[in-house]
Amino acid sequence: MNVRGYRAIDLEACRTLWVQLTEWHRDLYGAPEIGGDDPGAHFDQHLAAVGATNIWVAECDDDVVGLVGMIPDGTQAELEPIVVSPPYRGRGIGRALVDVVIATARERGLRTVFARPAARNAETLRFFHSRGFDVLGQVEVMYDLVSREHWRSGEQMARREFRV
Ligand SMILES: CC(C)(COP(=O)(O)OP(=O)(O)OC[C@H]1O[C@@H](n2cnc3c(N)ncnc32)[C@H](O)[C@@H]1OP(=O)(O)O)[C@@H](O)C(=O)NCCC(=O)NCCS
Repeated sequence: MNVRGYRAIDLEACRTLWVQLTEWHRDLYGAPEIGGDDPGAHFDQHLAAVGATNIWVAECDDDVVGLVGMIPDGTQAELEPIVVSPPYRGRGIGRALVDVVIATARERGLRTVFARPAARNAETLRFFHSRGFDVLGQVEVMYDLVSREHWRSGEQMARREFRV
């Protein structure tokens, strides 16, 4: 496995990985409408916004099987997106993708790298925690004006119950 900077030939593979990221969230919420009709196009928008120097891919046997990006903002950066193709998960590829972002952030003299996984995404929260993301910065709380049914209860913070 090899992690390297994004190249133009990776475009289709990265669109597919973005679709797989969307499928993960669709399954998480049981909500097939997440991501719209063409979720892969979000990769193109992301690329246009941050540029190739903020995107890396993981290759296995010449196949692109993982994608990570960073969104720099002053002395901090958001790690976004990160996704590994389902058959390749749990083999250390995600770890290598986080490592390249952390190393780049250090080289660039940044002070903070943060990630904003969905609160329901417990597996990925555990993944980030295991990679050293053990500080809770800001937390986004939400008032649902349309009473969506997909939230489930059972998470606690500050001794209060929250839906996720
Ligand atoms: C999150 C994701 C990128 C991790 O990539 P991965 O290649 O499967 O992760 P790794 O194999 O590198 O795992 C690294 C560490 O996380 C831990 N880990 C990975 N998946 C885990 C899980 N489901 N539960 C608990 N720990 C987990 C591993 O045990 C390992 O810990 P270690 O370093 O102590 O051994 C991948 O699972 C994925 O694409 N998930 C779906 C998309 C997603 O949620 N993206 C993030 C949106 S913000």
